[in-house]
Amino acid sequence: MSYKHIQELDLSKDFILPCKKDNLETIKQFISIEKPDFDGSFLSDQLIYGKDGNRIYLVGLGEDKNATQIEATFRKFAFETQKNWNSEIQLYAENLDNIAVQKAIIGLEMAQYKIGEFKSNKEAQKEVSVLIASSKEIKEFILEGSFTGKTINKIKALVDAPPNVKTPEYLGEWAQKSSKEAKYTSTVLKVKQLEKQGFHAVLAVGKGSIHPPVVIINEYKAKKTDAIDIALVGKGITFDSGGLSIKPSTNLHYMKSDMGGAAVVLGVVELVAKLQLNINIIGVVAAAENAVDANSYRPGDVINSYAGKTIEIIDTDAEGRLVLADGINFAIKKYNPEYIIDLATLTGSVVRTFGYAAAGMFTENQEMANTMSKIGFDVHERVWQLPMFEDYEADLQSDIADIKNFNGKPIEGAINAAKFLESFTENHKKWMHLDIAGVSFGASQYAKMKSATGFGIQLITNFIKEKAGN
Ligand code: BES
Ligand code: ZN
Ligand code: ZN
Repeated sequence: MSYKHIQELDLSKDFILPCKKDNLETIKQFISIEKPDFDGSFLSDQLIYGKDGNRIYLVGLGEDKNATQIEATFRKFAFETQKNWNSEIQLYAENLDNIAVQKAIIGLEMAQYKIGEFKSNKEAQKEVSVLIASSKEIKEFILEGSFTGKTINKIKALVDAPPNVKTPEYLGEWAQKSSKEAKYTSTVLKVKQLEKQGFHAVLAVGKGSIHPPVVIINEYKAKKTDAIDIALVGKGITFDSGGLSIKPSTNLHYMKSDMGGAAVVLGVVELVAKLQLNINIIGVVAAAENAVDANSYRPGDVINSYAGKTIEIIDTDAEGRLVLADGINFAIKKYNPEYIIDLATLTGSVVRTFGYAAAGMFTENQEMANTMSKIGFDVHERVWQLPMFEDYEADLQSDIADIKNFNGKPIEGAINAAKFLESFTENHKKWMHLDIAGVSFGASQYAKMKSATGFGIQLITNFIKEKAGN
């Protein structure tokens, strides 16, 4: 799909007419119907025909409270009707503000995502040109919407890819390819380097797999100075069997999505580079497969870490916090970033707490929390804060090592994981952890089984935009 700005609608050709709920003035301007049987409800649409036999699609934007979800209405509309579109379709955007134009394009682009990449007979992709009619200066918003939608689709394809295909090294190759296209630098540390540099926890988690672990470091620098403004760290477990603390088999295939945090980090760096934001960022992905093998790490093992802290393994299924501990500590020691945010499909506990409606947010920095929370509502990728009280620290103490990877209790699961990560942050004052286990993969009207959502791309990109002063 491509997008072009035009000044005026051609009323004889096909066009999309967005309408707010119970505000059909826009319709009356173009068509003479006294009482249209369409009220502009959120997620609704209706096809009527113009004088020239052209298609006019009425698309419901709903009420003001639905404004944060404009992409949802355009995505559903395009998903259902695009098979009938010609090679060009116009969008009347005079009554949409700039952000709404951007969201509409993200929605149209999201509808292009095809989940059946591994089917023998793939659906043919139709090239449609969307002409956005407005007298306003909206080119920049069109471009940003298009880049954002395309990145979300790429990231979804990565999360939905089968785990025998997307090995840790495959994530590394993805980053290398993306870095050439979007013009940033990418370094992939393989086992030898990981051993040399001391990524002991990443190596321990990856030991049981025939697919070796990697750490990916993506750097995008737009400023003249070298200082890193924001570091992102992602959990990249390409398949989480639980390891020797093996998971039950029900829904185990969904554990291919345990690299959802890594996918956000990879996607955001690519998008920020494409948008050429004036900021210096790095994205670190700690990738491994948590597999069952004679060589797997065990419950009871004591392992080392990048930070030099020894960790007693209570449960090999609490592997995400181990790879992240190395990733976070490396990012802080090597790059000393002003802000550091990690993203991870970290705990079942956060899914039990928030379901599929919000990510768990953990930080001691209230200003960061407030900013992230507001952006979350604006882009409808919501986050909700949980406490980091000192009271939870006792549960990290191990008798035989510096720390243990799980409290062994059926309580405070997501908080216990966050407190574990915190102890590897060297008391960084602007660190945040987002547990996206519930929101990065889920049921939707676009697939029969659960699939990737793209959660996090807009949230983190907008946070970065705010810090870049855009
Ligand atoms: N990858 C899982 C968390 C997860 C659960 C992600 C459901 C997506 C959906 C993580 O590695 C895990 O297994 N966590 C355990 C930790 C426990 C053993 C301490 C959990 O939350 O049950
Ligand atoms: Zn696990
Ligand atoms: Zn996991």
